[in-house]
Amino acid sequence: MQVVRKNTTRLCSSKAIVTVNGKFPGPTLYAREGDRVVVKVTNHVKVNVTIHWHGVRQLRTGWADGPAYITQCPIQTGESYVYNFTIIGQRGTLLWHAHVNWLRSTVHGAIVILPKRGVPYPFPEPDHELVVILGEWWKSDTEDVINEALKSGLAPNVSDAHTINGFPGTVNVSNCSTQVKSGKTYLLRIINAALNEELFFKIAGHNLTVVEADASYVKPFKTDTLLIAPGQTTNVLLRADRVPGKYMVVASTFSDSPPVAVDSMIATATLHYVGNTLGDTPTVLTTPPPQNATQAANKFINSLRSINSKRYPAQVPVIIDHSLFFTVGLGVNPCPSCKAGNRSRVVGSINNVTFVMPTIALLQAHYFNVSGVFTTDFPTKPPFEFNYSGNPPTNLGTTNGTRIYRLKFNATVQLVLQGTGLIAPESHPIHLHGFNFFAVGKGIRNYDPKNDPKKFNLVDPVERNTIGVPTGGWVAIRFRADNPGIWFLHCHFEVHTTWGLKMAFLVDNGKDPKQNLIPPPKDLPKC
Ligand code: C2O
Repeated sequence: MQVVRKNTTRLCSSKAIVTVNGKFPGPTLYAREGDRVVVKVTNHVKVNVTIHWHGVRQLRTGWADGPAYITQCPIQTGESYVYNFTIIGQRGTLLWHAHVNWLRSTVHGAIVILPKRGVPYPFPEPDHELVVILGEWWKSDTEDVINEALKSGLAPNVSDAHTINGFPGTVNVSNCSTQVKSGKTYLLRIINAALNEELFFKIAGHNLTVVEADASYVKPFKTDTLLIAPGQTTNVLLRADRVPGKYMVVASTFSDSPPVAVDSMIATATLHYVGNTLGDTPTVLTTPPPQNATQAANKFINSLRSINSKRYPAQVPVIIDHSLFFTVGLGVNPCPSCKAGNRSRVVGSINNVTFVMPTIALLQAHYFNVSGVFTTDFPTKPPFEFNYSGNPPTNLGTTNGTRIYRLKFNATVQLVLQGTGLIAPESHPIHLHGFNFFAVGKGIRNYDPKNDPKKFNLVDPVERNTIGVPTGGWVAIRFRADNPGIWFLHCHFEVHTTWGLKMAFLVDNGKDPKQNLIPPPKDLPKC
């Protein structure tokens, strides 16, 4: 992969964006389950780069995971780094993206992992496959957008458009069309690569059969609307069985955080039956759900169940070794140099800790026993408990630290993620590196440790790597800590991550890290 600047025109204006191989979105990586993947990334731009293979388990190969200052120092200008990993026990759709600052806005692409040779899909074989990448586009440089926000202490500007396969397209002016043949079945591999938007996705006149989420098979179900959070992927079967024509495809924001802003940004594209040659403008239209369509969102999320078949059993941990309760949300911190309001700035936190990025990678510090880089005292619960969906407490201040939580190798973990509303309740798509987890429970308002676990689904909960914590509510996830290393947990809204809504797990068996991990590659970048 060559990381290069490329002049790109969208919304009638051009800017030199950072890309991989000059493409936006970047190239699709194709592999099969069991393959070893070797990618040399060379940085030809003036900013630091890393690439993360979002959702790839990276069993014992944390050096190839990619988050800057967590598992590696960034690749500097003129340098290269070879990512080397094996895809074990996974097949489906994932995404790769830059994992430093806001670079992933333009540096991202699809990962398609086919099943092992000779192993069929657990659903009818499609005639064709298509990758659909949803994204966002800013007219300004995204690094400038976030840097200005950090200086002022205020929220950054929202994007100027949503995109489908790299193109905005507004109602009736579609810049992107996909051709399908009448009577054929298509597997759409849909990825939300947007920075800060959960997106609804819909195709006029067509039902979609959901078969997979985050590279885990699900029990197939039909829907006309999908909801995909940033970092999540969804595979659907689409049968081109309608009157040949031009059908509108839409991607639009889902946000039920009050106050609901009016966001008219709807990306459109056209599903074009072969034989219809007159232009790309859709003739069969559809309207997306309203921006705050909580019901439509829930209907979709609650339909996701892991396939739990003989071949793909859902191995949900039943006995729990670590039971953790993390509050996720925003708060404010004093900021004497900020322009905003009363000299304060917005921060993100987990259990009231605003994560401070280290200046050398945590995994290197762990492996080489460098002290003073992190502490392992991340709290298992918040310092004060309150009615998380009611009035916020008077003290919104958080504490800063590079604090991580140590899990024993192979221990089972239950993690309840409770959304808080210090400023306002907001949803948070939380992503865990290095693991898939089972989403065993979810609810609104406060998690009730007595009664809610009785309702957990321990049979066929959906298995994924990124989960939406509902606005003013909670989710419970379970996983087995079977992957030694240091693994990032963060909100996949890039703005929240920047503000500190992140932490990391250290997984080890108490012995010398050198016995659990492969040694760092020779070309591992230095800080
Ligand atoms: Cu897709 Cu840590 O990110």
